Order: sequence, then structure tokens, then C-alpha cells
Amino acid sequence: MYTQERERELIELTRRLLKELGTIKKADFEKAKVYAEKLREVIRYHDYKYYVQASPVISDYEYDQLFRALRDLEKKYPTLITPDSPTQRIPSEITGKFPVVEHLSPMLSLDNAYSEDELKEFDRRVKEAVGTDKVEYSVEPKYDGAGIALVYEDDIFRRGSTRGDGERGEEITNNLKTIKTIPLRADFSAFGIRLIEIRGEVLISKEEFKKINEERIEEGLPPFANPRNASAGSIRLQNPREVASRKLDAVVYQVSYVEPEEKAPKTHYEAVRMLHILGFKTPFPDMRVFDSIDGVISYCREWEEKRDMYPYEIDGMVIKVNNREFYEALGFTSHHPRWAIAFKFKARQATTRILSVVFQVGRVGTITPVAKLEPVQVGGVTVSSVSLFNEDFVKEKDIRVGDTVLIERAGEVIPYVVSVVKEARKGDEKPIVFPETCPSCGSKLVKLPGEVAWRCINISCPAQVMQRIRHWASREAMDIKGLGEATVKALYKRGLVKDVGDLYYLKAKDIMTIPGFAYKSAMNLTNAIEDSKNRGLDRVLYGLGIRYVGLTTAKRLVKKVKSIWDFKNITMEELTRIEDIGPIVARSIKEFFSREENWKVIEKLHKAGVKLEVEKIEREGPLKGKVFVFTGTLRCCSREKAGEIVEKLGGIFSNTVTSKTTYLVVGEDPGATKMRRADQLGIKKISEEEFLEMIKDYVDVEKLSEERKKMTLF
Ligand code: IVH
Repeated sequence: MYTQERERELIELTRRLLKELGTIKKADFEKAKVYAEKLREVIRYHDYKYYVQASPVISDYEYDQLFRALRDLEKKYPTLITPDSPTQRIPSEITGKFPVVEHLSPMLSLDNAYSEDELKEFDRRVKEAVGTDKVEYSVEPKYDGAGIALVYEDDIFRRGSTRGDGERGEEITNNLKTIKTIPLRADFSAFGIRLIEIRGEVLISKEEFKKINEERIEEGLPPFANPRNASAGSIRLQNPREVASRKLDAVVYQVSYVEPEEKAPKTHYEAVRMLHILGFKTPFPDMRVFDSIDGVISYCREWEEKRDMYPYEIDGMVIKVNNREFYEALGFTSHHPRWAIAFKFKARQATTRILSVVFQVGRVGTITPVAKLEPVQVGGVTVSSVSLFNEDFVKEKDIRVGDTVLIERAGEVIPYVVSVVKEARKGDEKPIVFPETCPSCGSKLVKLPGEVAWRCINISCPAQVMQRIRHWASREAMDIKGLGEATVKALYKRGLVKDVGDLYYLKAKDIMTIPGFAYKSAMNLTNAIEDSKNRGLDRVLYGLGIRYVGLTTAKRLVKKVKSIWDFKNITMEELTRIEDIGPIVARSIKEFFSREENWKVIEKLHKAGVKLEVEKIEREGPLKGKVFVFTGTLRCCSREKAGEIVEKLGGIFSNTVTSKTTYLVVGEDPGATKMRRADQLGIKKISEEEFLEMIKDYVDVEKLSEERKKMTLF
């Protein structure tokens, strides 16, 4: 998309603009016009580096400065705003209802194949229809998101819509403009194209999906069943600002209409390559062309194996005839084109029966109904219980004990009741009755204003206390092996542990009073507890179970403090200045640290020697004292991974070249700024091979490259 020379120019221009921020602010109309254009150019470039290539060349802070400068100019002189300005990605107004628009060509669905035989049958039909055996097929992932159609006219993104009924969809242009992988302007005219409609999918990564659902559960909202529903729900939100806050991605995979017609790419491969060159996210590196159906089949199998490692949910592979000139001869049925077929992976849904419903008390007192199921295999895993989340979820789906339900377990996602099979009802199914008192401590349950969940508000409720201890010991928190649910319960019942602080004063002889524990296993547990003292402040903060503080938030918090004691005086303002921390999260943190009883626990942890300070980097290891900066693409692994390795071996990983840098490791397509700075400061540059040489005795370099190959899926 950008030549090396152009990249250099744009980086140079970025530097200049950053230096001239003061002047830009004061610019008169004529100067502002020039600056606005320049700012747009560089912002577009940095969006591309960040979102498409995932290798930014400036810091987030610098990016924000440029973005703000442009936004301020446009505010001062609104006539300068253009529809493709990067600022238009976050529209300020509420859209209201979505208008309905007609697609330039109907959005059909795909025919499905579930076996190799069905693929062979497809191959036979295609060859018969086109009258030759020389047919190439392209194969690409079938993304499980929400289908979209994008229209570009004279290089500008004019209109985006949902699939709708195939003929007409909802116009959601403003929402789609918030997705940074959809360019607001793309140089189709360089390909002689004036008007084009392209098809694609809005996606949510599995990681982001997990995060959104955790937040929804915390807020008492029903979580999304799968990333597909989350994407579909997100692009239809009425407020584009909210859309922008969900980290959505878009991948495009089909050109469906072109004017002038003769400029349409001749093959599907060329079409996707064009989109790739123009800066879209496409199936490009994962798309392969085969000249035999056997090649197609083995590629599909290969992907079925690795689907779980892919960052996005995919439910199959799409096989398309590569030569688009054959499309006409092949034609369409009323539902799908005959030039494409979807090879569907094994289903991750199954039906089973609800045997009973139990009510669990969470660590903040939330009561969650959990359905016990007749065990069933879903995508290779036995599922025997499923969360029903809250009363609203149960009511909305009208779930009853004895019902037959459809269960889905997408990827590593928790199982979910998709629907009740009402046709299977016999009449003896029983409604789910919510308790009025806490199943653990018996206190009256309450529903707080604005919340969906019933809650036990007795903070000494045994179930809550035990859940809090369990959470502290969990893998992502303090990772105390051997401290499972049963042990926590036994320790609590014996009065040995009343809060997480007590764990660090446990003696092996006390633990041995629990049935099933002998000297050795008791020692193992005390050792595991001892080992957990140095997990770091981020995991302590997460482990304390502060409402809304997940591991990501905990990591962000730790960057701003020296020790846990800093939370004594932290202000709302300081908290909300931290990325992703809004007033609700900030208030929850303030509230937690304003409670005397919480500080008592923290004191106990401190006296026991649990590390509550942010670790000063003074590590041991073969790279001790050496500061590494990486630039360009590494063949062995991502830069983040390389950084992890450096830190593990005692070195320091940094993103900027300074006089303290020991080595600049140069990968492919190195960044001009870092290279120049290294030259200016006389920093030693080394190749990736030299870096690998340094670490090869400590790290399995070959395995690293293998993993890298598997992970470069986009
Ligand atoms: S091609 C007329 N390619 O699957 C065919 N579709 O079940 C145009 N989908 O509506 C679509 N990944 O939303 C195509 N690589 C891919 C796809 C893909 C996902 C979706 C798309 C379509 C649905 C059909």
C-alpha cells in the first residue's frame, strides 16, 4: 500500500506536524486547509500501520495529538470537514432508526458441504457446467460474523449496509465508519473502477468477545452467545460512539459489483489482492488457489485442525471458482451462487435436557441460576451444566426444568443456551422459581435499582467469602495450585481461613486436619501458597475481586502506582484518566479502598510478605542490564514475544531507541525513525540471526518459528 520511500516521507511529515502543533492551533483558514490535508494523510497512514499491519510507528500519545489537532481545525473551520476525514469515524450524532437500502447486487447465501464427497460433487457440477476440466478453486476461511456490503464511489466509502433480506439491508454507514479496518477512502480509481460494491464480515476477536461478555455479566446483562451475535448486535447499536467502543474488525472477501463492468477483476484471487493492496483486511495470506479438488479438501482439513488457534471464530471454509469469467455460465439458484460452496466444520451445537436448576452465589453476592444437564458432547467436550445468567434471561427464553434445549459451545467460549425446543415439551416441565433468600446464608435477596441480578448483600455470607478465596487462588490471579473449591470449603468450615490474608498463616499441621490431606500434600499446599507471594501487584489487584477490575484493568492500574498503598489517596480524577477506566469502574475501585475491612486484609498480606509493591526491574539472567529495541518484522516471533523473551532472560525490552539502548534488533522493513535514531546515537544494530544466536541456549528457537508460522493467520 505504501512504498518505503512514501513511508519515510510520511514519518518525516509526522515529526514536522508534531513539532508544529502550536502553530497549527493558530492557523488561519488558508493555512488550516493545508494542515488539515497533511494531518489526514499522516493519520490515515498511522491507522493503516496500527490496524492493518499491527506495527505502529508512533506512540498512542503522538497519534492522539495529531488526531486532536485535526479535530480542532475542523471544529474551528467546519467547511474543511470531508466525508473521508479520519475524524468522521467517530460521528457525534445519534443515528436514530436505520434507513433501508437496496444492494447493488443481491446478497445470496452459500450452499453448504459437510463431507469430502459433497465437495467432489460440487467439483463435478462445476466442471460439467463450464465444459472444461481446467478449473481453479480459491479457498479461504468462512468468517462467523455479521455480513456487510460496502459501496465505494469515486474512491470514497459512501454506504455500508447489513445483509438484510438479501435484496435490501439496513444502512449502517455511520456505525461502519467507526471500524478502523474499513478505509474511508480507497484508491479504486487506480484500477479504473468508479463504483464498486464489496462484501465482507464484521468480526469480533475471541479475546475481545470474552472481555465484552465478562463485562456484561458483571453488569448483570445477558452475555452474547457467540462472537457472531456480538458483532451483529454491535453494528446495529443506535449510538455510533458505543459501536466505536467495541473493538470491531472487518474483513472483506468478495467483489460483487463493478462499474465500468470491464474493469472487474478477472479472477477472485486478483479481486482479493486488489482489496488487500488498497488497505482492506482480507483473507489474503490465508487464501490459497488449488487446481484440484483434492488440494482443496486437504487445505480445508488443515484449517479444521487449527481453527481454535485462529483469533476469530470461523465455522468453515469457502471454496470459490477462481476464474470470475465462469460465474455467468454457472449462474445462481434462488438462494446461492453455483460458483461457490461452504465446507462447514463440525457443529458445536447439541440438544439435551435440563434436569434441574441450582442457584450459585458469586463473590460479589450475585445469584446465578445454573442448569444441570443430561451430559452431552458438544464439539468434543462433555457439557453437564450451563449458566442461565439471570432472571431476565430465563424469562426471555422461557426456560423450564425438563425442557429440551439447544446448547452451543463456540471455541473456548462457555456453553450457552441458544433456544428452548418448545416442540419437545410434554406439559410436565416446571417453571424456574427464584429463591427469595440466599441459599448460603439465608439473608433476604435484593434487586438493586438498575440491576437485573438478585443479590445477597451480606458481605460475610459464607458462599461469597469462599468464592472470594477461590478467586484469589485462581490461575489468572495468585495461581495457588491445590486450593480448589472443596479445600477452601473445608478450611472455611474449620475456621482456619476467613479471608485471603489468613491463607498465608496456615500451618501444614492445620491443613492435615482436613480429610484427604497427609503430610506431603499439606506441605505442597503451604509451598504453593508461599510461592504465590511474588505474583506481582497486578495479580493481587485482580485477585482481591474488586468489582469491574479484570486482569486488563489491573495491569493498567499498576502502571500508575508504586505500591498498593497509593490507592489510599488516589482520586476519581486520577483513576478516570487511565485508559478504559470510566466513572463506574473508578467508583468501584474507590469504594473498595475506602473500606476499613479491606485494608485489614491488605495489612495481613503485607505482614505475611506478599509483594504489594510494583517490581523494580532488576532482573537476573544472561541478558541482564542489556536494553533491546526491535524494529521491523521478525521471522521468529512477534515483537511482543521477543520482548517477553528478553525480559525472561533478565534484559530490558523497550520500544524507543535512547542512549541507554544496547542493541537495535533489525527485522524486515525496519522503521526509519528507529534506524536513524540508532545511527545518531551510535547504538549497535544487530540482525535477527545475531539476536537468535544470543538466546538460542535458553529458548527453543525452532519451536518459536513454528508457532509464528501457525499464528500469522491474518
Ligand atoms: S462469499 C454469494 N466468502 O457466509 C456469496 N461469504 O452462509 C458471497 N461468509 O452471507 C459470500 N465468510 O456473510 C463469502 N469468505 C467468505 C465468507 C462468507 C463468511 C458469510 C457471508 C455469507 C454467508 C453465507
